[in-house]
Amino acid sequence: MNGQLPTATKPSIQTIVSVEALLESAADDPTISTLLEALFIGNQRLLTPMLQMLRPEMIDEYLDSARVIWNAISAMSDQDPSTRLDEIIKGLQFHSVDFLRRQVAFARTGDYQAEDAQTVYEEVYHSASVMKEYLDGLLLTYIAWPNHYRLLQFYRDSYLAQGPSGRCLEVGPGHGFLALLQIQSHEDNTLLGIDISPYSVAYSKECLAAAGVDGSRFEIRLGDATDNYANVTECFDRIVMAEVLEHVEQPQTLLRSAVKCSHDQTLIFLSTVVNIEAIDHLYLYRSIEEVRQMIDDCGLTIVEELDMPLEFASEASESYEVALICRPKPK
Ligand SMILES: C[S@@+](CC[C@H](N)C(=O)[O-])C[C@H]1O[C@@H](n2cnc3c(N)ncnc32)[C@H](O)[C@@H]1O
Repeated sequence: MNGQLPTATKPSIQTIVSVEALLESAADDPTISTLLEALFIGNQRLLTPMLQMLRPEMIDEYLDSARVIWNAISAMSDQDPSTRLDEIIKGLQFHSVDFLRRQVAFARTGDYQAEDAQTVYEEVYHSASVMKEYLDGLLLTYIAWPNHYRLLQFYRDSYLAQGPSGRCLEVGPGHGFLALLQIQSHEDNTLLGIDISPYSVAYSKECLAAAGVDGSRFEIRLGDATDNYANVTECFDRIVMAEVLEHVEQPQTLLRSAVKCSHDQTLIFLSTVVNIEAIDHLYLYRSIEEVRQMIDDCGLTIVEELDMPLEFASEASESYEVALICRPKPK
């Protein structure tokens, strides 16, 4: 890659980091260059907000994240890298376009469309074709959507950087990327993951194995976490429930189980959405205050919070992604 883009492919919106500069920074790593070209040139419209968010001092960390994600994604499949790349880009397009379409419908109706947990299970979590695109696409959003990249920074810099190490639980690991970072963040960390989708279980296991994590450090189990954390009775040092609360009918059950499986120092990472629709969103939080109130009612104290408004949402809709670091209230 010589770093020169044809004029016609340059984004028309002002950015601080240019596509050329980004690709130039990745020039000595051909794999990442190919991924970034596919994203920032092949899908320029989708990636412009991400480009607008980047600052020169963020590039090294951004490339590191892209490398970890691409290594996991490519090692997880026997396909040649370019076929795999096409596949994951399709997943990202599915996620992004489906998301916009549903958000427009939500703005009209004011309600999420998914019927109930059983239907979501049958149509999404138990469907091989849906989950393939879903998990590939969701994983890529961590370097393609500004809010997910911010969330990733918060997870790394504020959550993983503090608190006890040791036994970790992740509810709904999905693609397994956050589980991977949790395990890698401390040599003492071992992790149990519980996910309702057999495809998420398989994907998470592959993601961790592809990154070279020893099998003795993790177990990913199939189970419904709303059922008393799939009857797990252990006490954990760290608990992660990222983008899961809005996927169940009664998030309170998950929050209360987190409290039950905690000791005084357990550090809990939660993320959820307010007024943001998706194929499998069941519980509608209508304000950030409602999220905070439920967390408090269920026995947790918020110690840090990151609120990320949806860029293009109207002010009236108050759409947010929210990430929170919590501790159980003293028992
Ligand atoms: C949106 S993905 C989140 C993946 C990852 N945690 C993240 O933040 O990117 C939601 C995941 O939660 C899982 N899930 C949904 N309902 C669940 C339940 N009742 N018990 C366990 N896992 C569940 C889904 O199968 C899916 O893998």
